[in-house]
Amino acid sequence: MKNIIYYFSGTGNSLRAAETIAEKIGGAVLYSVRCDPEQVSARDADMIGFVCPVYEWDIPGSFKTFISELYINPDAYIFMVATHIAVLGRSFETVEAILSEKGAHLSYGRALHCVASQCTAYPPFPPENLMIPYMERQMKKAGEEIAQKKARNYPRMSSFTRRRFQKVMGPYLAVEHEYDKGFYTNDRCIGCGTCAKVCPNRNIRILNKRPVWNHHCHGCNACVVYCPTKAIQFKTPKAYQELGTFISRILCLPEKRKRYHHPLIKAKDLMRDKTEISHSTQ
Ligand SMILES: Cc1cc2nc3c(=O)[nH]c(=O)nc-3n(C[C@H](O)[C@H](O)[C@H](O)COP(=O)(O)O)c2cc1C
Repeated sequence: MKNIIYYFSGTGNSLRAAETIAEKIGGAVLYSVRCDPEQVSARDADMIGFVCPVYEWDIPGSFKTFISELYINPDAYIFMVATHIAVLGRSFETVEAILSEKGAHLSYGRALHCVASQCTAYPPFPPENLMIPYMERQMKKAGEEIAQKKARNYPRMSSFTRRRFQKVMGPYLAVEHEYDKGFYTNDRCIGCGTCAKVCPNRNIRILNKRPVWNHHCHGCNACVVYCPTKAIQFKTPKAYQELGTFISRILCLPEKRKRYHHPLIKAKDLMRDKTEISHSTQ
């Protein structure tokens, strides 16, 4: 039995979900979106999973590209788990559309309600002490269902969200490449390069012991929340100031704001491109 899970994760919720599911299904190889899809294709996998956060009512753009470039065994049991806070939008439909071009289909889709990860917009919510145990239960439940190869219809975008998608999300997606112009470091930066190593998009290079962002950022905040000295700061970029939307107005990163990442996912976990998980006895 060969199980493969592909994941994108910025603040660890999705990686924690992928790891938990892998344990429950009797073990799996986990590949980060940072891998070259042609090198990690699922030609002969029996079970294939996609685990990622919802961004802007969809899946992160780099994960879309990654899945599009994968070879998929269409006869495999294929599942998708999306972590999110409120609105799933077209996340599952996006993956189903990519798979159907390869003659494959989602057998199982589940959304997991998690702690909000966008610390450049708002403090983490709901409270971690309530959410982490709840998230663990949901992740285990998803793993148990997937282990039984249950069929589960994936959540669809509501007609309310569908009607508003372009109007609400279009402006953000149009300026997304400007987002990382808001990042800079203060004098706490020690040039350790953790930010570059945890970035799922390989968007950061270290130049003269300082990070440089290369405008392929989805705003996942891995660099911000895993910086060991909290040196990464954020100032709303001009393109976002000009949007004048509610979210663009609240963008900021106060010194005292908690920089949430999943408590069980450390920087070293996000730095790995490949992780082999074995069966859980719990
Ligand atoms: C840039 C950004 C956009 C987001 N957009 C949405 C969204 O449209 N809907 C939603 O429910 N959650 C949204 N979230 C919340 C994340 O989906 C959620 O916190 C997720 O669990 C983060 O996963 P990770 O810890 O694996 O990065 C967004 C978070 C970020 C950072």
